[in-house]
Amino acid sequence: MIRVLGIETSCDETAAAVVGDGRHILSNVVASQVDLHRQYGGVFPEVASRQHVLAIVPVIREAMEKAQVGWGDLAAVAVTYGPGLAGSLLVGVNTAKAIAWARGLPLVGINHLEGHIYANWLLTGPEPTPPPSLPTLVLIVSGGHTELVLMRDHGAYWRLGGTLDDAAGEAFDKVARLLGLGYPGGPAIQRAAEGGDPTAFHFPRAHLGGSYDFSFSGLKTAVLRTVQELRQKGHRRFLPVADLAASFQAAVVDILVVKTARAAEAFKVQEVLLAGGVAANALLRSEAQRRIPVPVRIAPPFLCTDNAAMVAAAGYFAYQAGRRAGLDLDVVASARLA
Ligand code: KG4
Ligand code: ZN
Repeated sequence: MIRVLGIETSCDETAAAVVGDGRHILSNVVASQVDLHRQYGGVFPEVASRQHVLAIVPVIREAMEKAQVGWGDLAAVAVTYGPGLAGSLLVGVNTAKAIAWARGLPLVGINHLEGHIYANWLLTGPEPTPPPSLPTLVLIVSGGHTELVLMRDHGAYWRLGGTLDDAAGEAFDKVARLLGLGYPGGPAIQRAAEGGDPTAFHFPRAHLGGSYDFSFSGLKTAVLRTVQELRQKGHRRFLPVADLAASFQAAVVDILVVKTARAAEAFKVQEVLLAGGVAANALLRSEAQRRIPVPVRIAPPFLCTDNAAMVAAAGYFAYQAGRRAGLDLDVVASARLA
């Protein structure tokens, strides 16, 4: 078995994992900083990088212990080099370089979005499932990105479209703040929406002609205006938060699913993959399965949000393809996938 150590520190989770043959999770450790950032209502970059410095060594040690491997059992070290917060990325990249140099291991740089895609290669059930067949269509929806990508082969991506303004997860986070639901916004909106009527408010869906681009800022503004109007009408203390959350969530999911379904038909793919933190959303998961005309593969929620198993999985396939980074590997805060 070829074992890869994955390291991920692009945002507010310090994560390390060991994965075998790109699919078998031998360990997957995530130290979340969410409690630390809650008081700021979002990720405070300087606090995040300091916390990564504190957590990275214990997290890697735990991942190695849980996988019951030593340095000599590893074939390579894979690390996220971007996109993300520069100060946070630096901690992971420098730690990976130190391990690679000290142990003479190959170093592989992974794009964070590529990592999210490869969460779909990881095995989680008792039965081994076949890996995704390529080419495939991928919808990546995270806190920083919303991208529709045609993946032709391992490491070969063609971007069909993406958000022109806010990312889907960013919209969830901003609307959650607006509704007083706290941070992180995605899970909070999902919870609040459970008791709400998704047809209570009709929020706009930005179709943007026939393009595969997305826009969520108009939707966010529409929710803001509705909240302001409700407050003026005297709902100051009793906003219909559940209905607002459900109606907003329905609008985001609707446009994501409509465009992905259209691209799946246009490019005649056999399967669609969902990736990124917003792919943990229950409504998106069920609507994508129901409305996209080909099978939809979505990793379990804990592999959709940031983790290092996905980085190790992507690292395995990049390693097999001969991709190597030098010890001069640098972070790229705004790295693009394609
Ligand atoms: O992929 P991720 O963990 O980090 C980034 O790469 O950004 O995604 C985080 C984003 C956040 O915006 C968070 O609110 C959103 O994913 N998210 C969700 C859910 N869980 C996380 N959005 C909607 N529903 C969820 N259940
Ligand atoms: Zn992410």
